[in-house]
Amino acid sequence: MNVPFLDLKAQYLSMRDELDSAMQQVINDTAFAGGPYVEKFEQEFAPYCQCSAAAGVSSGTNALHLALLALGIKPGDEVITAANTFIATAEAISHCGAIPVFADCDPKTYTLDPAAVEAAITEKTRAIIPVHLFGQTADMDAIMEIAQQHSLPVVEDACQAHGAEYKGQRAGSMGEIGCFSFYPGKNLGAYGDAGAVVSNNVELIDRVKMLRDHGSSRKYEHPMIGWTARMDGLQGAVLSVKLRHLETANQARHAHALRYKELLADCAEAALPFEAEGNRHVFHIFALCCDDRDALMKHLSEQGVGCGIHYPKPLHLQDAYAFLGKGPGSFPVAENCASKYVSLPMFPELTEEQIQYTANAVKSGLCGAK
Ligand SMILES: Cc1ncc(COP(=O)(O)O)c(C=O)c1O
Repeated sequence: MNVPFLDLKAQYLSMRDELDSAMQQVINDTAFAGGPYVEKFEQEFAPYCQCSAAAGVSSGTNALHLALLALGIKPGDEVITAANTFIATAEAISHCGAIPVFADCDPKTYTLDPAAVEAAITEKTRAIIPVHLFGQTADMDAIMEIAQQHSLPVVEDACQAHGAEYKGQRAGSMGEIGCFSFYPGKNLGAYGDAGAVVSNNVELIDRVKMLRDHGSSRKYEHPMIGWTARMDGLQGAVLSVKLRHLETANQARHAHALRYKELLADCAEAALPFEAEGNRHVFHIFALCCDDRDALMKHLSEQGVGCGIHYPKPLHLQDAYAFLGKGPGSFPVAENCASKYVSLPMFPELTEEQIQYTANAVKSGLCGAK
């Protein structure tokens, strides 16, 4: 049997008629760059995130970049974020001319450690970006308390956490502004690159809307210098269709994660994902930790099971951020995760047979069981 890591075709087939007709409508209306289909999606996505407004942009990276600019982040400022995230979080900070200051993560949830955030604050700190890694929100009460004590805005990197919740609050709604990616493989994925920012501060969203469109308030009026970073009409239409299926899809991911956990419960060699109390984890990624990760990945691949590593090298050890001077040993928890993480197949359409086959392959790879 082959179990793919991700099966976007299965998802397309499950809603083909709705998607085909939505895309055809955009083409019929030639509503390609921004426009009514993006506005419609914004009006649907903001309340889904328990926010009053949303702005569709061209990627998650641009969502983070424009959110930071809208908050006034400028060259020389410091922004604290996790060492164990996708590089885009740090790139967004760098694109503002600001300096990413990395902090270590919690060994159980792999999300930003509030104590490490507090220790990293200096007089140059201007924002904090917790990353809701793998679909689980960071420890937001603790992070918001630190932010409030130091009068710092919190920008949530919710690029992997569409619909995740912290004590009933949706990812993206707790900080000053929340940022999402709709890269095709995300829980809510477009048919190309797309992203969004959400907030309860409508002024901030209005600023992002200007920044995404050459700093324009109306056609050929440019009070500020901006970018070409609008969401495409086609992506808006696809996302409106897929948003209607997101809750069912997130529930399926959660059920698959529970099933993996049940089947692997007796495999002591695998540390399984931990769901903090009060959190709704939406399992963008199901990552387990084990000592001989490379051997397990080789075994899974021989068994026809797709797997991945999110992420093999923490950001402080990337050449791009060598200039920060944080060598090996700087963030031990993030480094330990990077050497031990393995991500198993996780997508809503996974079948019970595929889950059992994958779990058996993990067991035979790690515990010698058949
Ligand atoms: C945590 C995180 N932040 C930011 C991004 C950037 O999103 P995009 O690829 O849409 O630019 C991603 C996407 O992979 C991500 O996983």
